[in-house]
Amino acid sequence: MLIKRFRGWELPESRATPESVFFNRRQLLAGGAIAAGAGLLPRAARAADEDPSASLYPVPRNEAYTIERPITPEEINSTYNNFYEFGSHKRIFKAAQALPIRPWDVRIDGLVEAEKTVSIDELLKQMPLEERLYRHRCVEAWSMTIPWSGFPMKALVDFAKPLGSAKYVRMETFLNPDVASGQRQSWYPWPYVEGVTIEEATNELAFMVTGAYGKPLAKQFGAPIRLALPWKYGFKSIKSIVRISFTEERPVSFWEEIQGREYGFWANVHPGVPHPRWAQSTERVLGTDERIPTVIYNGYGDYVADLYADLQDEKLFM
Ligand code: MTE
Repeated sequence: MLIKRFRGWELPESRATPESVFFNRRQLLAGGAIAAGAGLLPRAARAADEDPSASLYPVPRNEAYTIERPITPEEINSTYNNFYEFGSHKRIFKAAQALPIRPWDVRIDGLVEAEKTVSIDELLKQMPLEERLYRHRCVEAWSMTIPWSGFPMKALVDFAKPLGSAKYVRMETFLNPDVASGQRQSWYPWPYVEGVTIEEATNELAFMVTGAYGKPLAKQFGAPIRLALPWKYGFKSIKSIVRISFTEERPVSFWEEIQGREYGFWANVHPGVPHPRWAQSTERVLGTDERIPTVIYNGYGDYVADLYADLQDEKLFM
């Protein structure tokens, strides 16, 4: 049985949070700094200077997606990450710097008019880049607020030209055990896979992320391209995507394959549906440690509740 091997998510948050997060937070507060300046960032947390997309950022903010919460300081966000390819703990940011992000191709295949491979820089040229402030809620009951840059997933779906028979979008992370030591742990079903319905993918909130904090995406965030689905638990937001397939069959995602009873396909945020190890009624805000009530669909119900109106027999909330 696979059950008790998976340590990261099973740690109570108090144990999983590295001391340095608290230390750095105190430093920030003591300095009166709200947004961390680049000088405070560990080298690995800065946008890669050599990233060829650097000149594209910052991109204009889309004011339709702002929120009332303060932005989580970059220095906290970029040193507290889930990226199991580089370890099952939160301090993967240094290890993640080993990931080569150029050349980087994305394969588009399955039920599309024509399968194709596109380089990330070609894709960036063709997509309408903008910045959005999104909530980010992990099933471990912590949350952040992040200025993501990227483009609507709908633009990617239009670019891919799926056939009418396509019902799902399946996404896959890179597979490279030479640089990602986590991928040498064979009990995980690598590569990381996630999936959404076409309706979810074309909902205006679904966002392909290529930058954050006004810069190209740092490697620990899932460079050069990841997903953000702010109404779902964070594990749906797959990082470092290399393949996007359009399918008729519902894909089985990474965590669903590991423990389907705990991590379902839909994974929409619901304060009243606890995970076996984490109550979901409240969340801890990283950066302030404030505990606030969690809201259904992470506060995005107006955008997405309709997607699920006819799916009431499904296990929509985990
Ligand atoms: N994508 C890949 N490929 N590997 C991962 O381990 N972790 C997921 C998601 N995407 C993960 C991933 C989880 S559990 C969360 S909460 C978010 O990424 C974390 O994103 P962040 O590190 O930017 O906060």
